[in-house]
Amino acid sequence: MNLLYAIWLIFPAYVANASAVIFGGGVPLDFGKKWRGKPIFGEGKTWRGLLGGTMAGVIVGMVMNIIYPSFSSGLNAILILFSLSFGALAGDLLESFLKRRMGRKRGEPWPIADQIDFLLGAFFLSFLLSREWFLSNFTPYRILFLLIFTPLIHLVTNLLAYVLKLKKVPW
Ligand code: CTP
Ligand code: MG
Repeated sequence: MNLLYAIWLIFPAYVANASAVIFGGGVPLDFGKKWRGKPIFGEGKTWRGLLGGTMAGVIVGMVMNIIYPSFSSGLNAILILFSLSFGALAGDLLESFLKRRMGRKRGEPWPIADQIDFLLGAFFLSFLLSREWFLSNFTPYRILFLLIFTPLIHLVTNLLAYVLKLKKVPW
């Protein structure tokens, strides 16, 4: 139950990350600009993905909060859900930035980083913006479990997205 609850707590971040794939496309966040000859983020990071993903994470989290209150209430709940959702996509964005600096093309794999970028981003921003909630909910045990569980579930869902032709590559 404890570990299932850990997945429940991080679920808005999963939703944000997965929804970016569904809503993504169109104008890239970096407007196609390059830095030192390489794309800043690359074509895989778009405005629609960032905004759609963040909104989806917050909305799903608000519904979850009605079913089983776990993300505080009122404005605080919005802040927590925003930090989990936007944090996830910011982490993914930072990862793409680093991948481009390393010369890895869009969609080229970077094992482990590809799978936990959004988890680390969600942890980091929720720790920064909603520290009290973070510390009382993400216990070290739950964090450790999510660090192991997330890459596994990420691989499964991405394989599914690839089979459904939502993603170009299976990672
Ligand atoms: N996506 C998006 N906007 C974002 C994040 C993701 O549009 N801010 C969409 C893109 O269609 C992207 C897909 O979600 O291709 C999957 O994201 P990810 O696997 O992180 O991107 P990659 O295409 O593999 O690119 P990168 O090498 O930069 O990780
Ligand atoms: Mg990524």
